Amino acid sequence: MDFNVKSGLPEKQRTACVVVGIFEPRRLSETAERLDEVSEGFISNIIRRGDLEGKLGHTLLLHNLPNTLCERVLLVGCGREREFSDTLYRKLIAKTTIVLNEIGAMESVNYLTELSVKGRNLHWKLRQAVESARAALYRFDQFKSEKKAARRPLRKVTLTVPSRRELADGESAIQEGIAIAEGVAYAKNLANLPANICTPTYLAEQSIDLAKQFDNISTTIIDPPEMEKLGMGALLAVAKGAVHPAKLIVIEYRGGNKNDAPIALVGKGVTFDSGGISLKPAAGMDEMKYDMCGAAAVLGTLTAIATIKLPINVVCLVPATENLPSGDVTKPGDIVTSMSGKTIEILNTDAEGRLILCDALTYCERFQPKVIIDVATLTGACLVALGRHISGLLGNHHPLIHDLLNAGKISGDQAWELPMGDAYQQQLKSPFADLANIGGREAGTITAACFLANFTKKHHWAHLDIAGTAWRSGDKKGATGRPVPLLTQYLIDQCRSDEPATNGKGS
Ligand code: BES
Ligand code: MN
Ligand code: ZN
Repeated sequence: MDFNVKSGLPEKQRTACVVVGIFEPRRLSETAERLDEVSEGFISNIIRRGDLEGKLGHTLLLHNLPNTLCERVLLVGCGREREFSDTLYRKLIAKTTIVLNEIGAMESVNYLTELSVKGRNLHWKLRQAVESARAALYRFDQFKSEKKAARRPLRKVTLTVPSRRELADGESAIQEGIAIAEGVAYAKNLANLPANICTPTYLAEQSIDLAKQFDNISTTIIDPPEMEKLGMGALLAVAKGAVHPAKLIVIEYRGGNKNDAPIALVGKGVTFDSGGISLKPAAGMDEMKYDMCGAAAVLGTLTAIATIKLPINVVCLVPATENLPSGDVTKPGDIVTSMSGKTIEILNTDAEGRLILCDALTYCERFQPKVIIDVATLTGACLVALGRHISGLLGNHHPLIHDLLNAGKISGDQAWELPMGDAYQQQLKSPFADLANIGGREAGTITAACFLANFTKKHHWAHLDIAGTAWRSGDKKGATGRPVPLLTQYLIDQCRSDEPATNGKGS
């Protein structure tokens, strides 16, 4: 699907389909009004007969509107104008895209971008239109023998702006939207793959491919013998039961100045989490193929920023492994030494995410990052606390948390801060080692983050728990690509910020 921007009168559009909004009850949007005038009341006549009330998402397709150059006009119900919001705008674009894809018009000139959305500007509306349209048509059908493709799919989407003055900004919004949509689709594709295909080796190969695809990306893979040398006892303890070897993937994106400290993104890449000896129940265990969604998200974010050539340096780290039981594996009560030197009593082999992340976080120090953000499907407790709508956010530096919360709001990929502190840290005490890897039933998301905090003390650090937001269960099962929009927005904001020091060290 191609996107472009245009300004101009609706009746002058020589296109297969013009799209305009109708509010409830039977109220024409500005452009609908204009088309009604040039067509001498054609639209208002139809609406008066009761064919379209304007309810959100209802549509009506008209052909050969008098005195216009387009073949069709698609009227789209927008609900009540007073209740219109950013979420409804996104839903509206998604619904419109699905309808356009089915009616066979193949192209459209869309005036829904004129609708006013509280607190959002034109740039936001255009970017979100691209993201929502792409997401609406996303399919993961590579394993289906018969693919359900539209007969005449939507190929070209023109988004309108009020005047020529807005064309340049509109164009850049579209480019951002395309890049984010690509990043989201990349993450979804990777995450939706079954674990027999998406192994740690597969993730490593994909990362090497990224380096081939983009000039300023380079990839290094660390294999188990080197992990051994580095003393990554925690990561290796998780990998012990797996036949497929673990990989620590390191990807550097250099879009900024040579000497600028990078922003580090660390993504949990457990390609299948059976729980290990602390085996998970059978029901729904298939969904643990999604335990690499953190990895998928950081790789997706990287493709997004590389596509728009964002002037910033980013380093991505992905500790990748399976978590499986076997004969000679880590058992509850085993004590291992992490790369940091801290010893860990592994009381539950199912709390493996923090074990692989802690060694990745220690390794991360050598890049002297400005900030570290890790992303992980870390705790079932986060699903209980925040559900599937909002990601959990914890960290040790308020300006960084603030920036991430903000990026979440702008991108529509929201996060919510949970508290941390010494009281919770106490729950991780072990009688035998420096730390236990679990902190009891209470505040599971917080104690997991507290565990990680032990390995990020030297840096500004934030942690996104995406256990609830990274994929959907049930009949709409599938990866969401979150938090690619949030992370990309954060990185874009870092480049725009007048004071890059706001979340650098020393602020
Ligand atoms: N990958 C899981 C977390 C998870 C569970 C994500 C369900 C999404 C849905 C993680 O490795 C895990 O098993 N965590 C345990 C931690 C516990 C043993 C302290 C959990 O949440 O039960
Ligand atoms: Mn687990
Ligand atoms: Zn896990």
